[in-house]
Amino acid sequence: MNRCLISQMEVQGFIERCLAAVGAKPHHARSLAEVLVEGDCRGHYSHGLNRMDMYVKDIQTGICAVDGEPVVEKESAATALVDGKNLLGPVVGNFCMNLAIAKAKEVGIGWVVAHGSNHFGIAGYYAMQALKENMIRTLGTNPLSIAAPAKDGDSFVLDTATSTVALGKVELNDRRGDPIPDGWGCDPHGKITTDPKRVLTGGGLVPIGGSEATGGYKGYGLGMMVEVFCGILAGAQYSKYVRTWKVTDRVANLGQCFVAVNPDNFAPGFNERMSDLLSIQRDQNPADPGSPVLAAGDPERMNMKKCEEMGGIPYHINVIKYMNEYAQKIGVNQLLPCDKMISV
Ligand SMILES: NC(=O)c1ccc[n+]([C@@H]2O[C@H](COP(=O)([O-])OP(=O)(O)OC[C@H]3O[C@@H](n4cnc5c(N)ncnc54)[C@H](O)[C@@H]3O)[C@@H](O)[C@H]2O)c1
Repeated sequence: MNRCLISQMEVQGFIERCLAAVGAKPHHARSLAEVLVEGDCRGHYSHGLNRMDMYVKDIQTGICAVDGEPVVEKESAATALVDGKNLLGPVVGNFCMNLAIAKAKEVGIGWVVAHGSNHFGIAGYYAMQALKENMIRTLGTNPLSIAAPAKDGDSFVLDTATSTVALGKVELNDRRGDPIPDGWGCDPHGKITTDPKRVLTGGGLVPIGGSEATGGYKGYGLGMMVEVFCGILAGAQYSKYVRTWKVTDRVANLGQCFVAVNPDNFAPGFNERMSDLLSIQRDQNPADPGSPVLAAGDPERMNMKKCEEMGGIPYHINVIKYMNEYAQKIGVNQLLPCDKMISV
C-alpha cells in the first residue's frame, strides 16, 4: 500500500495553520493538533489528521466557540462540574484533566465532569496525562479509557470505543475504497454489512460483541455506563439528543467525565503489582505463536516506535491528497513534503 511519510512536526504545524486560518486561537489550535498527531502516532488514524476537516468546519460554521476558556461551575475537594463553553473538545479535555489531577494530588481522587464540550479526539490522550503524575485515569464520552502506571514507564492503557470500532475506521475504509470486516456496522435496516457506505449513509456501528448471540449487549451496557458518567451526570446531551455526527445545525453540548485516582492513597506497591500483572499477561502462551499476547496500550506503543524509527507518520496517499485539497480551499499551505513514499 502506497504511503507517504510526513514528520510529526509538519503535521502538527499543518493542523495548526488550518485551524488558525478559520479563526481558532493559536493555543486552542495547538491543543487540538497535539491530540490528532498523537492519535496518528499511536496508529489510530481514525482520530488523527483524517478528522481535521470536521473541526475546521465546526469553527468555520461558528457552531463551536473560539473565544473564552472553560469555567468551573460547581466544586468540592474531589469533584467539579465544568462548563466547556462550547470550545474545542481538547481545550475542555485538557482543562478537566489538569483539574482532576490537581484534586487527586490533594485528596486522592478527582472526578470532573464537563458539559458544553465538543469532540476531543482519542480518549487515551487524556488518560495518559495522569500517567505522568503516576495516577490512574479513566474517562469516557462513548469511548472509554483507563490508564494505569506500572514500573519503568510501562503502563496499561485501555483506550477503546464501546462500539466494535470507531466510526473513523469505517470512514477510512470508505476513503480507501476497501470493504469493512463483518461485525463492524449495519445498514439502515439494522443488518450487518461489509459496505462502509451503507454504514455511513443511514446505517450505524454495532456495540462491542456485535450481535446479541455474540455478547453485543455487553458492549451496549458499557456504552450506557459511559452515558451515565458523561451526558447524564454533567447535564449535557445524551443518547438520541446528541447532535448527529458531523451535522452543525446546533451546538454539540457533549458531556465528558475525567477521573484521576492517586494510588498513594491506597495499598502500597501499586506500580510493582501493575508490572507483575502486565508480565503475567504478556508471558502467556499465545494461541498463534506468531502473535504474542499483548496488554492494552502495547499495539500503540509499537506503532509509536515504528514512527520514531521511520522519522515520521506514514499516511495513505489518498488521505494526504484529500487534506491538501481541503487546505487549498481555505487558503492554507499544503502538507509537505510528500516526497518520501514508502510501502507498508
Ligand atoms: N472522541 C470520541 O468520541 C471517540 C469515539 C470512539 C473512539 N474514539 C477513539 O478512537 C480510537 C480507536 O478506538 P478503537 O476502539 O477502534 O481502538 P482499538 O480497537 O484499536 O483498540 C482498543 C484497545 O484495545 C487494545 N488492543 C488492541 N489490540 C490488542 C491486543 N491484541 N491485545 C490486547 N489489547 C489490544 C488497544 O491497546 C486499545 O487500548 C481510541 O483512541 C478512542 O479513544 C474516540
